[in-house]
Amino acid sequence: MKVTVVGTGYVGLVSGACLADVGNDVLCLDVDPDKIRILEEGGIPIHEPGLLDVVRRNVAAGRLSFTTDVERAARHGVIQFIAVGTPPDEDGSADLQYVLAAARNIGRHMDGYRVIVDKSTVPVGTGDKVRAAVAEELVVRGSTLAYSVVSNPEFLKEGAAVEDFMRPDRIIVGADDERAVELMRQLYGPFQRNHEKLLVMDVRSAELTKYAANAMLATRISFMNELANLAETLGADIELVRQGIGSDPRIGWHFLYAGCGYGGSCFPKDVKALVRTGAEHGHDLLLLNAVEAVNDAQKLRLVDKVVSRFGENLAGRRFAVWGLAFKPNTDDMREAPSRVVLGELLGRGASVCVYDPVAMDEARRIFGVDARLSYAERPMDALEAADALVIVTEWKEFRSPDFERIRALLKQPVIFDGRNMYDPAVLRSEGIEYFGMGRR
Ligand SMILES: NC(=O)c1ccc[n+]([C@@H]2O[C@H](COP(=O)([O-])OP(=O)(O)OC[C@H]3O[C@@H](n4cnc5c(N)ncnc54)[C@H](O)[C@@H]3O)[C@@H](O)[C@H]2O)c1
Repeated sequence: MKVTVVGTGYVGLVSGACLADVGNDVLCLDVDPDKIRILEEGGIPIHEPGLLDVVRRNVAAGRLSFTTDVERAARHGVIQFIAVGTPPDEDGSADLQYVLAAARNIGRHMDGYRVIVDKSTVPVGTGDKVRAAVAEELVVRGSTLAYSVVSNPEFLKEGAAVEDFMRPDRIIVGADDERAVELMRQLYGPFQRNHEKLLVMDVRSAELTKYAANAMLATRISFMNELANLAETLGADIELVRQGIGSDPRIGWHFLYAGCGYGGSCFPKDVKALVRTGAEHGHDLLLLNAVEAVNDAQKLRLVDKVVSRFGENLAGRRFAVWGLAFKPNTDDMREAPSRVVLGELLGRGASVCVYDPVAMDEARRIFGVDARLSYAERPMDALEAADALVIVTEWKEFRSPDFERIRALLKQPVIFDGRNMYDPAVLRSEGIEYFGMGRR
């Protein structure tokens, strides 16, 4: 099938590359010429495990190409995915300007029947807006071309995006007409060979499903963070509590980790947008407001521990920070807790040396030049002359470090572990002062 993907970011590039990998003829459009140049030169603009291979393989096979030409993109695919960003507006609602601009471009240039598929995370009712935007453009052209609007939210996880797209748990298709559903079934056939994964529903339910999934996961995280803080006060250990409840199959093991808060391009903005949708329709979403408030406070909690140990004024202190990405296996720092932690440490006068396996360029872009912020090539290099180590992202390479070396390099052996990577008893026996999240 001929497929166009509008927006070549994390979701668009992964979707386009994986759809090409099963034999489709995919054209990816982006308005950012730098991204398209990188792709045309054989690179990829993001860090995502396994993606470069899939992209290269399919470019070489002639099934995947890239463009900034809006007209060409609208004429290419019978299926037109919209995978552009939906960042939060000032009031927390999802900013739909990119989605609607993409829809208008399709309406302006399409030359046959099109299935316009919303893959971006969008508030309930966006399908109607997309339909109206395309209709308006067709009226201007005096065209009566037919089209369908489908909601097909994406559930891939950054860091495991290729695997998630290739082996989805479910494929949600919100559609009101059979023709579109049939084409979506054909397109996703190769991804559900051993059992049916396609769930067909109305457009609004599909749109809400995506928010419901992210809101549920964010709720679990904030729940555990709130309990971790209580555990600390009560002298209990949240890690033991986690094991105690995770073993209940009704609760399960996933997303039960206490830490220094969730970040990324999805949970924070999607929780906010859902709260906003509720408010617009007269529903004060009490639970989700609390989820967000707990998370905002949790991002500061790690710094609170540093302040309790070293005092409010951190001038003259130096800290090593391990982990900048909002989670392991990605270079994405959108809404990352590390941004709050670094901002607070620098704001209190400290100097900081950071290390992250892949997100350092992103950090340089975000923080610019700051004499008090330096970048280490290796994790241990960050520790030299530092007063303490602060861990913000649970990269695998931090799991089992040489504690003896850490103790020798730090001015005083103190670790603030925002992700509960280590066993407090082991660190005590190593002679390291340890602060976890909700640990005894
Ligand atoms: N990142 C994730 O893990 C993830 C997972 C599931 C869903 N989502 C959702 O998918 C959507 C995209 O997220 P992302 O992380 O891929 O965003 P992104 O910012 O990485 O990519 C979006 C791309 O769209 C491009 N763009 C904007 N307007 C355009 C237009 N009119 N025409 C063509 N290109 C245009 C931008 O230049 C950018 O490259 C969002 O709604 C997000 O909430 C993201």
